[in-house]
Amino acid sequence: MELSARLRAMAPSPTLALDQKVKARIKRGERVTPFHLGEPDFDTPVAAAQAAIDAIHAGKTHYTQAAGIPELRAAVAGKLRRDQGLAYAPEDVLVSVGAKHSLYNLFMTVLDPGDEVVIPSPYWVTYPDQVRLTGAIPVIVPCGPDTGYKLTAAALKEALGPRTRAVVLNSPQNPTGAVYTRQELEDLARVIVGHPDLLVVSDEIYEKLVYGTSTHTSIASLGPEIFARTVVVNGCSKAYAMTGWRIGYMAGPRPIIQAAGDFQSQVTSNPTSIAQWAAVEAIAGDQSPVEAMRRAFDRRRQLMVEHLSAIEDVTVMDPGGAFYCFPDVSRRLQRPVLGRMLSSSAELAELLLEEAQVSTVPGEAFGAPGHLRLSYACDDDTIREGVGRMRDLLAR
Ligand SMILES: Cc1ncc(COP(=O)(O)O)c(C=O)c1O
Repeated sequence: MELSARLRAMAPSPTLALDQKVKARIKRGERVTPFHLGEPDFDTPVAAAQAAIDAIHAGKTHYTQAAGIPELRAAVAGKLRRDQGLAYAPEDVLVSVGAKHSLYNLFMTVLDPGDEVVIPSPYWVTYPDQVRLTGAIPVIVPCGPDTGYKLTAAALKEALGPRTRAVVLNSPQNPTGAVYTRQELEDLARVIVGHPDLLVVSDEIYEKLVYGTSTHTSIASLGPEIFARTVVVNGCSKAYAMTGWRIGYMAGPRPIIQAAGDFQSQVTSNPTSIAQWAAVEAIAGDQSPVEAMRRAFDRRRQLMVEHLSAIEDVTVMDPGGAFYCFPDVSRRLQRPVLGRMLSSSAELAELLLEEAQVSTVPGEAFGAPGHLRLSYACDDDTIREGVGRMRDLLAR
């Protein structure tokens, strides 16, 4: 059976594949420390869950408008005004089945085959494959520890060409936890508005999870010119521990939102009705559960950084946001581990899983070999024990 060229060129999500593998081990009774996880370990706030239960009892279980219920589009517009100072009308918002779906809708809406999309690496695993599915070309711009794993205005300028249609920004960033400062975004915005027809896809899904002196700024808030060039993507998964509910959204220039809504109407129709009602409550209701989760993540972040920093030949940047550490293990790879030389962080991640029962995601998945991603969406004891086992293995 011949598959399409499109699918033959696509790789399945490496993080989801790893998750299946680890879950199978846990089912077999193995005690695996799940540092590979990309979701909060908290429960969905009670009020949001109750809103879905109420929606079921009220019979709100039919098709909704394909672009989302008006109440949710209004709640999102209100949230973007409240939290980011952005003036969107409900019609400028499209609700989809998770931010991943929003991103795919968006790429399908604005990209033609042969267009180029600038993606800074390390990147979230999904961007390049989604871009390729449209026939467009990801232009990967490596961003190392010297710039805090962030894209600079100079590097962006260098990557732009006549076919560049979009640049993907993700702050706070998965996998590094990097958070762009206002100044850095202003510098990028200046380059973007100077380039004809260039759009910014601003993935702000970790917006609520920032720590220490880091603050979240949406690039769209930096003036009318850049506002007109930006599509903000966000969702309920990370801020409200609602990964399974599958509610994401985008907001941006109305012609794009309308066209993306038309596309969605032919592909999925509306996101699940009751999940949309839960999202209205999560986004517009009491925000205190978010702060409680953020504080817990902050404590775990400090614990994980402290323990990782104690491992010889491993360096880790203090992440300003999200819930990941992204240690550089390349120096450690220059010496044997358990008597043999490893050629990559992918091999090291394999070994950590086999010999120390610690699951991490190798940097290769994010276009950044020589690193590992560890999530601190787990309790303090798990962090101490898992990083401890990692340290013991790396000492051998
Ligand atoms: C950077 C980033 N963007 C988007 C998503 C997608 O989130 P969802 O589809 O659950 O809303 C994720 C999830 O891991 C992510 O890390």
